[in-house]
Amino acid sequence: MTNEFKIGKSAVTVTNRLGLGTNKVGGHNLFQDLKDENGYALVKEALNGGITLLDTAYMYGLGRSEEIIGDVIKDHDRSKIVLATKAAQDPDKDHQLNNSPQFLTAAVDDALKRLKTDYLDIFYIHFPDKDTPKAEAVGALSRLKEAGKIRAIGVSNFSLEQIKEANTDGLVDIVEDQYSLVHRQPEEAEFPYLQENQISFVPYFPLAAGLLTGKYSADDAEKFKQYTPEQYTNILAALDKVRTIATAHDATVAQTLIAWYLNNPAISVVIPGARTAKQVHSNLAAQKVALSPAEYEQIDQAFSQI
Ligand SMILES: NC(=O)c1ccc[n+]([C@@H]2O[C@H](COP(=O)([O-])OP(=O)(O)OC[C@H]3O[C@@H](n4cnc5c(N)ncnc54)[C@H](OP(=O)(O)O)[C@@H]3O)[C@@H](O)[C@H]2O)c1
Repeated sequence: MTNEFKIGKSAVTVTNRLGLGTNKVGGHNLFQDLKDENGYALVKEALNGGITLLDTAYMYGLGRSEEIIGDVIKDHDRSKIVLATKAAQDPDKDHQLNNSPQFLTAAVDDALKRLKTDYLDIFYIHFPDKDTPKAEAVGALSRLKEAGKIRAIGVSNFSLEQIKEANTDGLVDIVEDQYSLVHRQPEEAEFPYLQENQISFVPYFPLAAGLLTGKYSADDAEKFKQYTPEQYTNILAALDKVRTIATAHDATVAQTLIAWYLNNPAISVVIPGARTAKQVHSNLAAQKVALSPAEYEQIDQAFSQI
């Protein structure tokens, strides 16, 4: 697959399909023991290593992640960076979800200030609210696009029905939802709809929040209570199969699985998160792992019955 990718029907082009997830950059409200200095270092590592798409959100540190990224990108060519951020949690209403045109318009202006830039490449409605008609929310984003403040319209955590409703006028460029080899639900109905409608897809939790790096064993089952003991055992067995393929490429399990996502035609950009610059450095090497079609299939099959 070519590395260059167009986001939906927008003018945004991503030159590197490996991006960076930044919920552990300044995300003090979500994760304990994070240090801002590690956040700065890992974003710098990513940009210096050739990553161009940064995925952030207001909710990651209540603006702190965006501020750190804004500080780092000042030293880089803005035109080469694809900035994606999200909002929906209203700070004036106890962070209840708000998709009203007034809120989204103000949220974009606030994000621009924190990121110290005058446009966002991608803006996602982070979560759907209960009340705002989806077309009204997306209509507000369409006006922001016309005004040049955002370049592509995204939605996240919308059900397929909600995505369809949001896309009534064909305005949605990109969807970000949970998807990984251990969470494959979007494959059935969401991916075909997105492909038919020229909407790009970005999976979050591609490494299942670290489980798919292969660094956990049977002793860690307690940390992953969302899986039944049988599922957890099956996941570890699948990871063992990946390890064999990884070893043949002189690669890690994480690099091999990131390479699998980069080869997956349903996915536009892969945004593994990281806690340290060292992890980013390691994940960057995924771009060098050239999986054969047979290996791609073996990995697909290994996770088909979790
Ligand atoms: N739209 C949404 O609602 C939504 C929701 C969640 C996430 N996201 C976005 O999606 C991105 C990706 O999701 P995620 O970061 O939560 O999960 P992820 O990509 O599945 O896993 C990332 C975590 O795995 C561990 N890790 C990564 N590389 C590693 C390596 N080479 N060696 C060892 N451990 C490694 C790190 O955690 P530890 O070091 O702590 O183990 C890292 O924070 C986020 O950063 C965020 O930008 C969006």
